[in-house]
Amino acid sequence: MSVLVTGGAGYIGSHMVWELLDQGEQVVVIDNLSTGFDWAVPKRAKLVVGDVGDKDLVRDLIAKEEVDAIIHFAGSVVVPESMDNPLKYYENNTAKSRDLLEVAVNSGIDKFIFSSTAAVYGAPLTSGPIREDAILNPMSPYGSSKLMSEIMVRDVAQAHGLRYVMLRYFNVAGSDAKLRTGQSTIGATHLIKLACETALGRRSHMSIYGADYDTPDGTCVRDFIHVSDLVSAHYAALNFLRQGGLKFTANCGYSRGFSVREVIAAVQRISGNNFAVIEGKRRPGDVPSLVANSHRLQNRLDWKPRYNDLDTIIETALAWEGELSEKRRTA
Ligand SMILES: NC(=O)c1ccc[n+]([C@@H]2O[C@H](COP(=O)([O-])OP(=O)(O)OC[C@H]3O[C@@H](n4cnc5c(N)ncnc54)[C@H](O)[C@@H]3O)[C@@H](O)[C@H]2O)c1
Repeated sequence: MSVLVTGGAGYIGSHMVWELLDQGEQVVVIDNLSTGFDWAVPKRAKLVVGDVGDKDLVRDLIAKEEVDAIIHFAGSVVVPESMDNPLKYYENNTAKSRDLLEVAVNSGIDKFIFSSTAAVYGAPLTSGPIREDAILNPMSPYGSSKLMSEIMVRDVAQAHGLRYVMLRYFNVAGSDAKLRTGQSTIGATHLIKLACETALGRRSHMSIYGADYDTPDGTCVRDFIHVSDLVSAHYAALNFLRQGGLKFTANCGYSRGFSVREVIAAVQRISGNNFAVIEGKRRPGDVPSLVANSHRLQNRLDWKPRYNDLDTIIETALAWEGELSEKRRTA
């Protein structure tokens, strides 16, 4: 039997593929390469270049590759883009997840893991760690498209006996410690990636969007989880379903936050480059603090984080940026 990873040529999906292969699993990937890269999929996994909304293709793939579980990462992920083009997000994230669910249940798949996001909470009423039972009130079409998919997964599970895990990621960063893959997205807007690009001289300076928030140093606070810990949580989730688990929704973070200023200072210290930082205005939609209460993940899945350390996250992200420069030079 094999595990189908949708979006397996992307940042998080490619780390998942490596984790599954390391665990001795058979892996098949479907990815339309809209933001992913074929070279990010290890040769030992089967890559099918195609769209997750192509029902005939996915149906045939599930049958031919004897898929018995799906981990669904494929989607569009840029919040500001979703504000400008909501229909793209409702199509790619919501409508295509619906198509995938239809094919999955019609093909007898009973294990489904869904990539959700802290964006489903919107602007939380608390500055403290957020629990899974907090109010769900997305502030962007991206967050809404993901919440709609969560609701579909839940309802389809109830009607068709699908068993599922929904993981709501906070800020994902870092790269595989062996540098087999990393974050390669063109035009990524993630703080740690931007700071690493600046440290390597690819950007002239780094901007801080708002230094007057009601937080300890005035800048936004976020909970950064290392991508390798995130994918090992997915593997634990897969085992939970294999052992008969019915349904589970959990936040993915470390229950502690770092401010934008702290992250930038750490990248400057680790890289030895005291690059220029410019303080600008707040961006619409940014909330002061987003920190996960991750007790449920830690207590209910057989999962222990191995990279819960900001310096380690940054060191691996920086090392990957160097590797990526080399890949682009030789491509
Ligand atoms: N990166 C984060 O911090 C973060 C935070 C919360 C949630 N997530 C979720 O994690 C998942 C993966 O995000 P990522 O950061 O790896 O993004 P990414 O853009 O690197 O990966 C997405 C992958 O999906 C593929 N894809 C997109 N639409 C497709 C389609 N219709 N059919 C087939 N393939 C398609 C892309 O080519 C890409 O390889 C997304 O669902 C995202 O919402 C990411």
